[in-house]
Amino acid sequence: MLLIISASLTCAVIFVGIYNLWLARIRVSSYGDVFYQLPGPASPSLLFGVARQFWTTDPTEQHEAWKPLAVRTFVAEMVGTGTLLSEGANHRRQRRVVNPTFAPAQTRQFTELFLVKACQLRDILALEVAVQGGVARVDIYSWLHKMSLDVICEAAFGCNIGALSGERQSNELFDAFRLVAQQVTRMSIWPMLRFFFPVLRVFPEEQSRRFARARQVMGDFAGKRIKEKQRELDGSKPKGPHRRGDFLAMLVEANMDQKIAVMQRLSDQNIIDECRTILTAGHDTTAITLSWTIYCLAKHPEIQRQLRNELRAIATDSPTMDELAALHYLDCVLREVVRLYPVLPSSLRITSEDTVLPLGEPININGEIHDRIWLPRNTPIVIPILALNRDKTLWGDDAFDFRPDRWDNLPKTASTMPGIWGNSLTFLSGPHACIGYRFAINEMKATIFTLLRTYDFELGLSADDVGQTPTMLRRPMRLSDPDSGPQLPVLVRPYRAE
Ligand code: HEM
Repeated sequence: MLLIISASLTCAVIFVGIYNLWLARIRVSSYGDVFYQLPGPASPSLLFGVARQFWTTDPTEQHEAWKPLAVRTFVAEMVGTGTLLSEGANHRRQRRVVNPTFAPAQTRQFTELFLVKACQLRDILALEVAVQGGVARVDIYSWLHKMSLDVICEAAFGCNIGALSGERQSNELFDAFRLVAQQVTRMSIWPMLRFFFPVLRVFPEEQSRRFARARQVMGDFAGKRIKEKQRELDGSKPKGPHRRGDFLAMLVEANMDQKIAVMQRLSDQNIIDECRTILTAGHDTTAITLSWTIYCLAKHPEIQRQLRNELRAIATDSPTMDELAALHYLDCVLREVVRLYPVLPSSLRITSEDTVLPLGEPININGEIHDRIWLPRNTPIVIPILALNRDKTLWGDDAFDFRPDRWDNLPKTASTMPGIWGNSLTFLSGPHACIGYRFAINEMKATIFTLLRTYDFELGLSADDVGQTPTMLRRPMRLSDPDSGPQLPVLVRPYRAE
């Protein structure tokens, strides 16, 4: 019976695959000469085209399009339909309510939280160093992941889930995220098919079950807290002893603001989805970027030394956000990491109406020069974030090198990049640009500041063995040990002044 189901399923998948290729072919040819003749990469497989290469190779080389429905279904499985997935007027309404909670003044008040959590990690590493006899070998990605999870839970809900301390291992929220964090590091056909053909999601699968569980736990948790906050705000419950306003409190308050018309307000379900979005978008992204920062510094000891000198010149362990922002070399290092290692190497859009796309470089087709192409409504477009961040025509011949000094003398071409931070597209730009970029940058600066003043980092494996997971978010992994999941082994030594 199982065999028959599996054979029918395989046939169905192959049929849907061929049907889609045929549709794509008709679609491309109907766009006319210009679109049809734009050069694309050679296709190594008749059935899957360049899909495998899309996941496994450096995206600087790709110009492939994703199906938006696939991305939406995949992301919605975990976060529901918060700001990340809504569009048009609905999206503007959601951003209007959520924006104030990410304003610079609000983000600034989390500085103390960032430093407290970074110091907690610093002390945990000190214990590891002591236990392991002077030099600790640790998976820094997993520690940074725990730290950023603690930070976002406290910032979002005002609750400490104790991921770093391991005190509350049975906490439901922490367990749910731990399940989701058991990420894929190998290419396999079934998840890919499920991604491209959302209809296949009706068949149960382990990853979907984990996502659904996390979604439910986050929803229940946020639901209870929303009711509490609403009762606090309308006066029917005494206010809790908040050290600082958390996102949820700010969001509920902003949503009850008299200036926002009742029709414009978010429903409780909308707020729950916003909480899920912020929890999910706001922790692993930061942990991954921090891991790549440690990787770059460990690979370039001279740069690590120079940065440490700058950080150790500060007299206090608890700088203000302004003091952190004034650290010039720290800023250059972070800009360089963010440019070279965007967590999301590409993103997808689909044209909502017929449009004309101007080309940066005109193309010559059959002797005719085209400086723009016409894109009909519903054309999928890939925004090649990594490709643009490393484009040699924009950044110069050393675009692939880690060179923080470049930020003191940036080529004019690089300043034409439209990103919201650091002249790169890592946080994207436009209406869907990352809402939490200030939060992320401040958290990363506070963490690097704290860790690098105390420790010297060295790679705990050969640099050639470090790879990127073939997932939507590019985590570090060990190429020789994909089964152990995302990781970045490093050697940690207490820093001793020479
Ligand atoms: C280094 C860390 C981070 C990176 C690289 C990053 C990157 C991004 C990118 C590329 C997008 C756009 C995705 C798309 O539309 O395709 C995005 C959206 C978003 N990010 Fe971040 N993010 C980071 C940290 C954070 C943090 C800390 C938060 C919250 C505390 C956050 C909250 C969001 C939200 C809510 C959106 C959806 C915005 C919208 O669609 O209007 N992100 N982020």
